[in-house]
Amino acid sequence: MSAPRGQFTSNIGFLMAAAGSAVGLGNIWGFPTKAASNGGAAFVVAYLFLAFALAYPALMAELTIGRHARRNMVQALRSISNGPISRFFGGLTGFGGILVASLILSFYAIVAGWMVAHLAEPFASLFGAQEAAQWLSSNSVDRNLIMTAIFSGLTMLIIASGVEKGIERWSTLLMPSLIILLLLLICYVLTQPGALTGLEVYLMPNFDHFTPDLLISAMGQAFFSLSLGVGTMLIYGSYLSQQESLPRLGALVTLIDVGIAFTAGLLILPAMYVAQEAGTQIFSAEGVLIAGPDLILQVLPALFDTMGEAGVFVSIAFFALMVIASLTSSISMLEVPVAFSIENLNIPRRIATPIVGLIIFGVSSGIIFYFDSLFLLAVTISTEYGQPLLGIALCIFAGWIWRRDQLLAELKKGHEDIEHTLFWKIWPWYVRIVCPLLILTAFVQSVV
Ligand code: PHE
Repeated sequence: MSAPRGQFTSNIGFLMAAAGSAVGLGNIWGFPTKAASNGGAAFVVAYLFLAFALAYPALMAELTIGRHARRNMVQALRSISNGPISRFFGGLTGFGGILVASLILSFYAIVAGWMVAHLAEPFASLFGAQEAAQWLSSNSVDRNLIMTAIFSGLTMLIIASGVEKGIERWSTLLMPSLIILLLLLICYVLTQPGALTGLEVYLMPNFDHFTPDLLISAMGQAFFSLSLGVGTMLIYGSYLSQQESLPRLGALVTLIDVGIAFTAGLLILPAMYVAQEAGTQIFSAEGVLIAGPDLILQVLPALFDTMGEAGVFVSIAFFALMVIASLTSSISMLEVPVAFSIENLNIPRRIATPIVGLIIFGVSSGIIFYFDSLFLLAVTISTEYGQPLLGIALCIFAGWIWRRDQLLAELKKGHEDIEHTLFWKIWPWYVRIVCPLLILTAFVQSVV
């Protein structure tokens, strides 16, 4: 007999977990820097539009399938299939999701490991351990291995404790802390000289940038940010009670995700221009805004250094924010393969978690050793190919393969008067036609 399936104990618990999965490095780092290099508010507007017009409907497909099937992605897609061929593709898509979620985790944990190192560094300095502090800021292979191991270990500890005691409890604790830290940091940074220039760059639209490339970039960002395609939202939906309204919860998750991404822009962009005011280079030699790892690992730390005593606390708060945001996302990625191992391979959670976690850590280690050739490859395969293709497949499953009456019945659960809503009138055909076509168009464009 396998253990009973976990379930979120409340809608707040689900909301914190799903928003926790969505809100991550993609929001706090990815979104603001993409906005800064893509025409400021022009990108913000495109992003807001795509988040609600494309990502939200795709999110609803995952949540609805997940809650109906109450199983992991492989079994869920097989169970809504109606013949051997679709069942085969259901299994294939499910395995694809598990692989891509694991691949995302393998590079995400490395980046999160950098954040752990930067969080630990001021503590080492504070306690006079200068050598340790130097090592922590060194970007050496051994530092990266150990920091990634620590972060992966934390992720495993939470996932090993299960849905209520692990995912729900920790997300409910960490998400409010994240919001408080973010707001405190914004209040501080906005009082510094140079901050207003950053706000201007962020909020003044430059519509010259409004090109197909901008839309593709905004779509990729929305997909990554809402954790779509890889079954994280499907598996979280499968732990949700049938008393809750899916369209409402899905809309709230989208709103929180978009809201925090936008708010993070109010921190990162001003901080960059404060750093410039304090003498740090924020443009590359070619005049391009520094947006990659150098921004988080050099520009911002250099800024914190100029802030004297306060800088130590600001730095701790900032990297704590990054670690928290990463952790509530990484647990959702690990849950995808772990749920599969529990349900399909009959391995108890406490054993499945370390096994799967260690395999993924092995992949992270490989990426750390061959960073220059593997890191970008892992990012590209998983986010530029994996997520959109799986997203299309999931919309096709929800819109074409799954029996309509079952899909509609699932939507009605927990939302009695849904038939009077706009959602009911639009979404069922929208997810069938508009979503897959839009994602496909953007995908083809980006590949070509
Ligand atoms: N949404 C997370 C972020 O913005 C990343 C993520 C992608 C999480 C895919 C789960 C699955 O950082």
